[in-house]
Amino acid sequence: MREGTSRSRGRDAQRSNIMAAKVLAEVVRSTIGPRGMDKMLVMGIGDITITNDGATIMKEMDVQNPAAKMLVEVAKTQDSEVGDGTTTAVVLAGELLAGAESLLDRDVHPNVIIDGYRDAAEKAQEILEKIAVSIKPDDQEQLKQIALTSLNTKGIFGSQTHFAKLAVDAIRQVMEKHDGKVTADIDLVKVMKKHGRSLDETELVNGIIIDKEVAHSEMPKTVTGGGIALLNAKLEIEKTEIDAKININKPEDMYLFIQEEENMLKEMVEEVAKTGAKVLFTEKGVDDQALSILAKKGILTVKNVSSGDMEKLAKATGGAVVGTTRDLAKASLGQAKLVEEVKIGDDKLVYVRECKNPKAVTIMIRGGSEHVVDEAERSLHDALCVVRNAVEDGKVVGGGGAPEAELAKRLKDYAVKVGGREQLAVAAFAEALEAIPVAIAHNAGIDPIDIMVELRAKHHSPQNLWYGVNVSTGKTADMWKMNIVEPLRVKKQVIKSAVEAVTMLLRVDDVIASKGTGEGKGPSGPSGMPPGMPPGGMYGGM
Ligand SMILES: Nc1ncnc2c1ncn2[C@@H]1O[C@H](COP(=O)(O)OP(=O)(O)O)[C@@H](O)[C@H]1O
Ligand SMILES: [Mg+2]
Repeated sequence: MREGTSRSRGRDAQRSNIMAAKVLAEVVRSTIGPRGMDKMLVMGIGDITITNDGATIMKEMDVQNPAAKMLVEVAKTQDSEVGDGTTTAVVLAGELLAGAESLLDRDVHPNVIIDGYRDAAEKAQEILEKIAVSIKPDDQEQLKQIALTSLNTKGIFGSQTHFAKLAVDAIRQVMEKHDGKVTADIDLVKVMKKHGRSLDETELVNGIIIDKEVAHSEMPKTVTGGGIALLNAKLEIEKTEIDAKININKPEDMYLFIQEEENMLKEMVEEVAKTGAKVLFTEKGVDDQALSILAKKGILTVKNVSSGDMEKLAKATGGAVVGTTRDLAKASLGQAKLVEEVKIGDDKLVYVRECKNPKAVTIMIRGGSEHVVDEAERSLHDALCVVRNAVEDGKVVGGGGAPEAELAKRLKDYAVKVGGREQLAVAAFAEALEAIPVAIAHNAGIDPIDIMVELRAKHHSPQNLWYGVNVSTGKTADMWKMNIVEPLRVKKQVIKSAVEAVTMLLRVDDVIASKGTGEGKGPSGPSGMPPGMPPGGMYGGM
């Protein structure tokens, strides 16, 4: 091996990997649940982010350690697949690794642990499917509770109910039913944010907001009930690619030349006006001259709209984006009751409002400061995802640590049946799951041992299936009755993401780090602390 290459093998490699991953899980553990704390992340240039969102914390931390990086991946997968449960997945992964560590100490072979964990995970998925409860995608009240469960763990200061309603209304607007199957694409919910005002003034617009101003000062700033033309073409005279030379001998020729250009532009504008459109959105540029003709015709024009926004405009207004002005037949026009330019702070935006049954909508987040709207945006993302998961799958489970406690109980029973050394791993898996109710309790200042004793006792009776942690009383309670509900998809993915990463890490028995693979000191850096984390900084308040 080259000089400077560091290598750690066997138990050493495993141990230091586990250590690094556990440290990272420890960082986010204190944010879990309704009483979880937030983290303040300070970037290199002094920018700060205050968040409770597991995925964001993991992404923004500059983690160098390769094993710890795998936990960052867990958070990212969880976030992109299901949008919520990121912290839970990371904490579970950390616990599974801690469990594996003590089994390794007892000389259980990594492969036995891996098999046991896989087996337990599969069984857990089965149990989750079995205990899940069906809901209807039209059950607005239930959907609101699901959104609320996700939002209640976030620092959005008393606006949870308002945000829950917005998330449900938005998803219900964009969801589609085909042959009894429901789909909802959250990309069709455009989320925008402008700081100022308060979170309660966050608004769902049944249409699209474009972050651009009306293109000409003499155009109308408000149009009610006109057709909307959507164009993907320049309203400009094309410059030729090759250099062309035009000989102009008389001043009249020059005049004619300019006149001809103007006529061409006029003709294009005429084609737009002919359709009866009162509003024009175009993806490309518009010549100044064309703009002034459009203004004279009273057509509100917005130019250089992004292609994503054009697509959403089409979905929202029911119009079609066409490639040339000639193709702008009346049928391709979109409709909205109101198009208006609105000034927010120093910015001007164009609101396309009250579309009829829009298939794309916009939520405009408002809030006291930039940090507030940023965190509100992350929270809203989670809420939109959980509502989407619930309408698409129609299956939910109770929250508050109830499913984890139930899984733990059933997996412990199952472990006995598995027998052999593998049962140790299945039992360790069950115990790792209990870390979730424990963390929720701990973060709420409740004694974790007392609550676990109580929870285990409750889960002995089948009718107490949904008993979890009541953070207000410090006792156990039926989470279902308390309307604390989560999509089945989130819980299933938590187990999947955690187990995948953990088994992959456990299979490693040799870490070879060549010089120059980042400043990280390799997996056996001092105390296994992932480099790039401020010393002691992340531990304040934990
Ligand atoms: N009111 C509540 N009481 C108890 N537990 C709750 C409550 N609301 C949410 N939870 C639980 O908090 C956990 C989610 O916490 P959260 O901080 O959002 O982490 P994650 O990033 O994993 O979603 C879930 O287990 C959820 O059921
Ligand atoms: Mg959450």
